[in-house]
Amino acid sequence: MTRSIIRCCSVQDSTVADHFSGVVAVDFFRTMVGKWLGGGIGRGVYVLGTDPSLAVKIETRSHSFQNISEWEVWNDLKNMNNDSAHKWFAPCHYISPCGAVLIQSRTKPLDKSRFPDKMPSFFTDLKYQNFGMLNGRIVAHDYGYNRFVHLGATARMRVANWCDDDTT
Ligand SMILES: Nc1ncnc2c1ncn2[C@@H]1O[C@H](COP(=O)(O)OP(=O)(O)O)[C@@H](O)[C@H]1O
Ligand SMILES: [Mg+2]
Repeated sequence: MTRSIIRCCSVQDSTVADHFSGVVAVDFFRTMVGKWLGGGIGRGVYVLGTDPSLAVKIETRSHSFQNISEWEVWNDLKNMNNDSAHKWFAPCHYISPCGAVLIQSRTKPLDKSRFPDKMPSFFTDLKYQNFGMLNGRIVAHDYGYNRFVHLGATARMRVANWCDDDTT
């Protein structure tokens, strides 16, 4: 069976900036938003202007609820005291009332050679671009789309088939 690859354009820095119009909104944007870190399917990601250890994720696509999903996953794991699972995720610190803005710990990129051979079995989307380094550990920073509800956050590990993100 052939597997069709769906390619889609990533969110661009300029697209996010376009959402902030008017003097006050532009000024606020320039204060809160620092260096561009990258764009994904639904979100543009920047260093938080007031604290470079944090990332601000701005969701500009409609019917894309990844900020909310990440926030929910992070808080569920925290409330369950599931240490073995939550150490694999970049912590979420704040979400705006409507979910368009999420503040998350900032991860650092890591070389492909440092990706582990085994990862928890609940990670089904093992794209290099979904992970980064935080405090010496590899963590997921893109976990909005997931199958955790179906698979459960178990401690089981599986062989990791890492691949690249096809978003252009
Ligand atoms: N917490 C973070 N720290 C540092 N960079 C991040 C963080 N979250 C995302 N990024 C960067 O931004 C890019 C897009 O973010 P991502 O979470 O993948 O958005 P989307 O869910 O829209 O695909 C990532 O590929 C990564 O390079
Ligand atoms: Mg992504």
